[in-house]
Amino acid sequence: MLGERLHMLDQTPVAAPRDWTAIPPRDKPYPAPLFLYHFVRNPLRCLPRAVYEEPIVPHRIGRFRTAWVTDPDLTETVFLGRHAQFPKPPLEQRVFSDPLGQSILTSQGEDWRWQRGAVAGLFRHEDILSYVPDMAAAASALLTQWRAGGVGATRARPIHRDVTQATYAAISRTLFGGAAMPEAGAIQAAVDGYLNATSWEIATALAGLPAWGWHPASGRLKRSSRMMRSAITRMLDRWQAGGAVAGDSLFGRLLAAEEPGRAGGGISRERVLNNLLTFLNAGHETTAKALIWTLYILSQEPEWQERLRDEARSVVGDGPVEGRHIDDLVLTRQVFEEAMRLYAPAPVLTRMATEDCDLGGVRLAAGSVIFIPIWAVHRHRALWPEPEQFRPERFAPGARKAIRRTQFMPFGFGPRICIGSTFSRVEGVAMLATLLRGARFDWPGGPAPEPLARVTLWPRGGMTLAVTPL
Ligand code: HEM
Repeated sequence: MLGERLHMLDQTPVAAPRDWTAIPPRDKPYPAPLFLYHFVRNPLRCLPRAVYEEPIVPHRIGRFRTAWVTDPDLTETVFLGRHAQFPKPPLEQRVFSDPLGQSILTSQGEDWRWQRGAVAGLFRHEDILSYVPDMAAAASALLTQWRAGGVGATRARPIHRDVTQATYAAISRTLFGGAAMPEAGAIQAAVDGYLNATSWEIATALAGLPAWGWHPASGRLKRSSRMMRSAITRMLDRWQAGGAVAGDSLFGRLLAAEEPGRAGGGISRERVLNNLLTFLNAGHETTAKALIWTLYILSQEPEWQERLRDEARSVVGDGPVEGRHIDDLVLTRQVFEEAMRLYAPAPVLTRMATEDCDLGGVRLAAGSVIFIPIWAVHRHRALWPEPEQFRPERFAPGARKAIRRTQFMPFGFGPRICIGSTFSRVEGVAMLATLLRGARFDWPGGPAPEPLARVTLWPRGGMTLAVTPL
């Protein structure tokens, strides 16, 4: 039946292709002081053309040697083949440890392994499909808000805010066992404030300045970090006092975990807090960004938007999207993947060489930071025909097999691959189908929003779309 459906899907390209370059590559890299200045403004603007064309591009920042690595064999080596030799760099600790402390995202080695093991069971495909009604309900709540202005009435909506609200609601309902979260607004504001300031911390680290030093965003980072931690502490206190959340929620699994070497067994409250905050943030921010950019593309690809609307109507009908529909929303998945190729929600990943080594013919000294610019891997001239065009056919069931795992990796690769990748793929499809069936999205005109790397991929200045509830 699925085979028949796939056969019937029209995979032909539509209309004249648009160009989605978004950030024109620079001909040459910036020299060191200018590099750091532009890096703070937008790291993606620092990428020289060679990064989009060559397998590996060495780069010096002052006395530091770095390299931009895009070649699928080399990234496979870094992320998987010799991953012990290329761990996450201290730079990541420095950026995230203030709000998150030691958590699944920031730990290494054995300390990482037990945390990953403690929660892995929550991310099985069948279990995630059972969350779909909650994910769809979070998207439906947005439609209800939009319809308050009347069906058929077009309104300009801050899509970045609306969609983030929905993905936050989805993670609260699913992983946090439906716990009420009145702190949502405070946490989202604090996360925005924090991420927006991270480039300063990264740039000062790359310049070799100590973590205790001052930079113009130091105060903002500290304040936002404090806000996040006090909000999650209030939430944890409330849940523990009420005894409301436990069982097979993320919270329940963390409370049942055994922290190796802890006197008296169990897990410290600190670790529970660190991981709750990590999952809350990692679990809503990135998926929101993926959806925002997908809707942005669709607002300018009306034929694809209509195709997806037709697919949602024919696969789902009038009722809510359920787990059993996800596999049949084939075009929706393709569009979501192609949108994540063009607008990678996590645009740059980093690793570090722990010893002197040779990578793709480039000598790297111990301590060198390796940048894996997913943004450029996904737009690499040697890897994709017409990389700047939006072509969901690339991800059609037959064609997808030809795409290498380290050629398309919005969720990273290897042992540290995103634990929420299936969760967000399912959530993306469920939310897109719900939103597109219930509303039309049009680009209101004006300059295109600049994709801005702030750990995740932001639209600079936000994203306003014209939304017409149907
Ligand atoms: C479109 C949505 C998402 C994208 C693009 C994304 C991307 C990523 C990437 C690239 C990494 C690896 C970072 C590295 O190797 O340096 C990662 C790790 C992680 N992600 Fe996601 N993520 C998404 C959604 C989620 C969701 C929904 C959750 C939770 C439910 C989540 C939780 C995590 C955690 C906990 C890690 C750390 C895993 C570890 O180190 O073992 N992410 N994510």
